Amino acid sequence: MTAVGDISGTTTDRRAVISLLRRLRSPEGQSNPLPVWDQLRALGDVVSAPWGGYLVTGYDACNQVLRGRNWLVPDFAWQERQPHSERWQAPAAQEMSRALFRLNAPTHTSQRRGLGNLFDRGTLDSLAPRIADHARRIVDELAERVHADGEADFVTVVGDQLPVLAMGEWLGIPARHHAHILDFTHRQVHSQELLPTKSELAVSAQATVEMREFFTGLIRERRARPGDDVISGWIRYWDGQFPDDRAAADQTVYDLVMFVTIASLETSATLMTNAVWLVAQDSDRWDWLRRHPEHIDDAVEETLRYDPPVHINSRIAADDTVLAGTPIAKDQMVHVMYGAAAHDPRRNENPERFDILRGGSHMTFGGGIHYCLGAALARLEGRTLLTELLNRFATLRPVSAPTYAPRMVFRRVTSLKVTTDDDPAAGPAPRPPVEDAESSPAGRCPVHRAEHP
Ligand code: HEM
Repeated sequence: MTAVGDISGTTTDRRAVISLLRRLRSPEGQSNPLPVWDQLRALGDVVSAPWGGYLVTGYDACNQVLRGRNWLVPDFAWQERQPHSERWQAPAAQEMSRALFRLNAPTHTSQRRGLGNLFDRGTLDSLAPRIADHARRIVDELAERVHADGEADFVTVVGDQLPVLAMGEWLGIPARHHAHILDFTHRQVHSQELLPTKSELAVSAQATVEMREFFTGLIRERRARPGDDVISGWIRYWDGQFPDDRAAADQTVYDLVMFVTIASLETSATLMTNAVWLVAQDSDRWDWLRRHPEHIDDAVEETLRYDPPVHINSRIAADDTVLAGTPIAKDQMVHVMYGAAAHDPRRNENPERFDILRGGSHMTFGGGIHYCLGAALARLEGRTLLTELLNRFATLRPVSAPTYAPRMVFRRVTSLKVTTDDDPAAGPAPRPPVEDAESSPAGRCPVHRAEHP
């Protein structure tokens, strides 16, 4: 393979990289990773990681890895080849080794074929009104709390809730289980971190036990009372693929259900909260978007670019290869940095500006054969929620900056306190007249740099 375009190779400044990664994981780096991404990119498009392997920071180099045929995901066989692999032998990592994003061809191909397009037009059309009802209800609850207490935590009342409500609708999981699912999901993902600590792996191991118990029970119930829901459909399909091996069918259905749940909840919640933080921190921007609801999709898209819910993803070199001038040996791991890539000024001009109308490029849903299967659902949730919030609140503003869990892979906002200046007695804020492009050119959308503490 050859190096691509205007991109540069590796650096060996190990101490600089260690210090930057420490910063990225610190509260300061979590609340504003942009300067760390810039400095990593300044070290090269492909930067040696202190623990071996490489960090891929530039847009084109990341794209090349995600779409290239000579890059694989780190699957079970690769995990087993790792020496001293306490991390890869951990129960939570072993459990995830059967999940779709850890499979290579041909197993990956057959599972994707079996799933088809999860969120085709018909499925989205049938989910949309239910998701809108849920969004309306939780936004009403947010308004009640803000009016009663002066402020409320957007994450707990809304951001965490809409994805689990949407997932519950889609998979047919009753609301009484949602808090439990959210709880074990938040704990399970520690095992996906770049360098999970022993205590994080122990937390993930316990969450894995709870997750397995819950989803195997759910699949058992669906077997006993099949319906026309998604899980019953998967059971029928995989029974057909493994006609003499019900355990193999059950295992595959379990792997799919548990993974779509984690893949959906840990990511969409971050998208919801990021969208509000990035739009509402500027009252002019909030007001502009109320007058230009036709740009709500653009706001969701720029949120996805500006702060991807998954910051890092990994691949393995299938053979000895060269990436951006850097020789990489077979089996070496590279870490694709989605956030650093989306802020590469060679791809998106003035990347530090949150600019709803930029029409920028990102790879927040991945690329190539592992492209996210839930992208359409995540976008629908983002659009629906922003629409409801803009309808409900003439003003909505953060009381303070959000707080984050100390993670580098799956981003997680733990709290975002919001308030409003709306009159509680007045009820839902009347919509301002929608402005056409002539009287209020879209170009007047405020494009200031998003605030970071
Ligand atoms: C904002 C929300 C979301 C983000 C940022 C996101 C991001 C991603 C990324 C980056 C990948 C690629 C992984 C790789 O290349 O190894 C991926 C894969 C995947 N996502 Fe999402 N995702 C989101 C929402 C969802 C939802 C709502 C679902 C399901 C309902 C979902 C299901 C999946 C599945 C099944 C895969 C694995 C695809 C494969 O390996 O073939 N995601 N997602």
